[in-house]
Amino acid sequence: MTQTPEATKIHKGLAGVVVDTTRISQVNADTNSLLYRGYPVQQLAAKCSFEQVAYLLWNGELPTADELADFESRERADRALADNVKAAVDLLPVSAHPMDICRTAASVMGANHPLSEDSSKEANLKKSLDLFAAMPAVVAYDQRRRRGLEAVPARDDLSYSANFLYMTFGEEAAPEVVDAFNVSMILYAEHSFNASTFTARVITSTLADLHSAVTGAIGALKGPLHGGANEAVMHTFEEIIRAADGDDVARSVKTWLDDALADKKKIMGFGHRVYKNGDSRVPTMKAAMDKMVAHYNRPDLGELYKGLESAMTQAKNIKPNLDYPAGPTYHLMGFDTQMFTPLFVASRITGWTAHIMEQLEANSLIRPLSLYDGVDERQVP
Ligand code: ACO
Repeated sequence: MTQTPEATKIHKGLAGVVVDTTRISQVNADTNSLLYRGYPVQQLAAKCSFEQVAYLLWNGELPTADELADFESRERADRALADNVKAAVDLLPVSAHPMDICRTAASVMGANHPLSEDSSKEANLKKSLDLFAAMPAVVAYDQRRRRGLEAVPARDDLSYSANFLYMTFGEEAAPEVVDAFNVSMILYAEHSFNASTFTARVITSTLADLHSAVTGAIGALKGPLHGGANEAVMHTFEEIIRAADGDDVARSVKTWLDDALADKKKIMGFGHRVYKNGDSRVPTMKAAMDKMVAHYNRPDLGELYKGLESAMTQAKNIKPNLDYPAGPTYHLMGFDTQMFTPLFVASRITGWTAHIMEQLEANSLIRPLSLYDGVDERQVP
């Protein structure tokens, strides 16, 4: 089969390939910086609510006081779960991964939506807000269902983050816990053409609807090489503690890591396709984690974090990514480990939908080529 010269250069994993421009975020691996619409993510995490950041990602500017008040009141009015979304979740076994629940819920929300097939900017902004507002209820409902607890209705007098924690745990969280959760939502919101965002853009490029793109993106995020790493970090910690069997955990870290690396295992929560000298989001998330370690009085977890990080630096010089401090933070807050990636979903809905709208502004079907290396042409006997 004849191939064009361009087609013969293989870009495995699309590594290093620039497929389009974007105005939403800038990841700069050389300076370890991440900007959302030009603002350093660290400043946004220190000074803004997640609602402000969602508005920024969708509209390109931070909201004025009036715009924020209007945005918040629309988000708060939109938090309830539709009956058939609850029914769909209830049909799924509690043995199903919570990411399967999120994926199904997003799909049902799409089927429900009166603007489902309308891909105008206005309709997509409305659908994005609806998903953003309702996804916490899906996650909280599923977390409680797994614990055999009744659902807690949303409160419209609480911020997005405070209400998320309230619906999950049935009581108001301490302000420092709400702050740490808000920081994690902001840091997880957007990261240019990562695997799940690219998935959303590929689906959008076929002119499929916004909910189809978000549903596909949730599937891409589930994998342990992407969003699934935050829960995998907690499994690693549990394995190390188990291996210590009551002895010194610090010693167990090194033995566990040596064995894992000898088995050629990837250590979850470390490494990144773009950042090779450390993830720009880690220091901010680590500071939030440290506050939670102090709040819940769990210095042991802080020590384990440090121990594995320094053993990994010594062994491979590979740095942590955002999932490394986020996993233990969510654990300390009381979420089950399997719920961590759904928390990432709730946040990243903002980035995905911003990219869906941007893709539609200058759409071109995303359809790469492949180089055939199967058997030569032959005849059916
Ligand atoms: N543990 C052990 N070795 C690693 C790790 C790791 N976490 N990450 C990279 N390496 C090694 C690879 O084995 C490889 O070594 P080699 O050259 O000797 O074969 C080298 O570093 C390059 O790694 P690649 O996997 O080729 O790098 P790539 O850019 O494709 O991978 C990835 C990036 C997938 C994130 C990888 O670092 C990884 O698997 N990390 C663990 C999963 C993880 O934490 N994912 C979260 C990503 S961030 C996010 O979603 C918020």
